Amino acid sequence: MNVRNSRFLRNSGIKRWWLGNNPVATAWHNALSSTFPRGEAFFIDALRQFRDGTSPELAAQIRAFIAQEAHHSREHLLFNRHVEAAGYDLSAIDERLATFIAKTRVKSDMVNLIVTAVLEHMTAIIARDLLGKPHLYEDADPQIIALWRWHAVEEIEHKAVAYDTFLHATRRWSGWRRWRVRCILAILVTRNFLEHRWRDTLELLAQDGITGWKARTGLLSYLLLKPGILRRILPDWLEFLKPGFHPLDRDDSHLLAAYEASQPCAAETIPVEAET
Ligand SMILES: [Fe+2]
Ligand SMILES: [Fe+2]
Repeated sequence: MNVRNSRFLRNSGIKRWWLGNNPVATAWHNALSSTFPRGEAFFIDALRQFRDGTSPELAAQIRAFIAQEAHHSREHLLFNRHVEAAGYDLSAIDERLATFIAKTRVKSDMVNLIVTAVLEHMTAIIARDLLGKPHLYEDADPQIIALWRWHAVEEIEHKAVAYDTFLHATRRWSGWRRWRVRCILAILVTRNFLEHRWRDTLELLAQDGITGWKARTGLLSYLLLKPGILRRILPDWLEFLKPGFHPLDRDDSHLLAAYEASQPCAAETIPVEAET
């Protein structure tokens, strides 16, 4: 794992429809980004509760995970401020998320950890799709897509950390109990994730004056048909339900290697010394 602590978007604003001049694609990504800072803070807290007693290797991975997620939150907070400066109001999305996370937090540390493992799987497969289909982002603002690619790479690097922490925390559970609980939570968490991001994206589209059937069919088409992000990641999502699943079963090293190979040309990033 490589904690890069990169910085983006320090010297310029952004265009309102920064992704291919496409309001739907832009709204979907803005809706995702608006949840990252609070979501990642939740993930960090969830793993911290189980850090004691882990192996030195896993403890080091949790430390790197925390550092990576903290940097992601910092950069997406700034990106979200740019989105607001471009004319969008994210306050309602943020308030709903804060309320939802507060309700989730009080359930139990174990539930929070499994929710995190599910959402980390979701994040990793979205990241895999983003890095594996660069042509879909050719028309994006180069500085913004540099931020999303950096985030995607680090999500793939730490994709197993929450899951390994879950395996450690449930080491005394039977295999059947582990599988049943993670599958139930995967379905519930994914349903909430999709329902909430759908609502948030429609709310942002309404701020562009795109409402009703036009907004709903446009978003449905974007997610399921062309380019069909959700359709493409569905097989990867289903892998989580398999008995014996582990995030590292899928080798994504070619995506990481391609990213590293591209870095000398990425003038928009300012890598600074890693903190761990
Ligand atoms: Fe992240
Ligand atoms: Fe993550």
